[in-house]
Amino acid sequence: MSTLLTTLQSIWSVGKYSLVIILPVLFLLSRSQIRSSTRDAMIQHAAEQAADNAKNGGDGEKTTIMQPARMDLLPPLDKRFTLAELALYDGKEGRPTFLSIKGTVFDVSRNTAVYGPEGSYHVFTGKDASRGLGMSSLKDIDAVPEFGDLDEKDRKVLDDWHLFFVKRYNIVGKVIDHPTLLAEERKKAEEEAAAAAEAEGETTTSS
Ligand code: HEM
Repeated sequence: MSTLLTTLQSIWSVGKYSLVIILPVLFLLSRSQIRSSTRDAMIQHAAEQAADNAKNGGDGEKTTIMQPARMDLLPPLDKRFTLAELALYDGKEGRPTFLSIKGTVFDVSRNTAVYGPEGSYHVFTGKDASRGLGMSSLKDIDAVPEFGDLDEKDRKVLDDWHLFFVKRYNIVGKVIDHPTLLAEERKKAEEEAAAAAEAEGETTTSS
């Protein structure tokens, strides 16, 4: 009996030290698991909210965490920006805050809480960050204009964000050197030229 007691005592004296190490490790592991699944859910949530708001204009019955659509927007302006010019409008040193989505430039200056230098979405300012919006990414590396290779789902998210901003922020103009838009325009022009040449060929053959 006393041998059993001694054995149990020695197991406990070693075991309690292992617990001191194992328990915090288990705690940290479970926290990081919860945090990453929460983050995924929130990202999904953000994209769904954007889609919801875009669809019902934010003034429908659904309750959302997003600000509602505005009724006091000004008629869109038609100022032209290069991406380099747009970079000046980052809200720093009293400058206005602009951001562009698919080449449409929005004035987001009134929402400094999220777009100001300390805001969660400052990464999108002074840029066309179409790619990051489509991918639901806040990474600096994704806050770039190129969205041509996004899959259908991400393109839909991007279009929903575009509509979300159209309904909430004044449009100040457009980006004239947007790489993806220029590439798409070039492709369309080539396709039209090829179709016209084909039609021309058919007319010549038949006459
Ligand atoms: C942890 C994940 C996230 C949380 C908790 C979150 C939360 C929120 C909340 C509460 C708003 C409403 C803010 C307001 O209207 O003042 C918002 C708006 C927004 N979120 Fe997120 N979000 C998350 C992730 C993302 C991601 C990954 C993106 C990347 C595209 C994103 C982009 C936006 C944008 C563009 C708005 C609109 C801001 C505006 O009203 O102009 N969010 N988010």
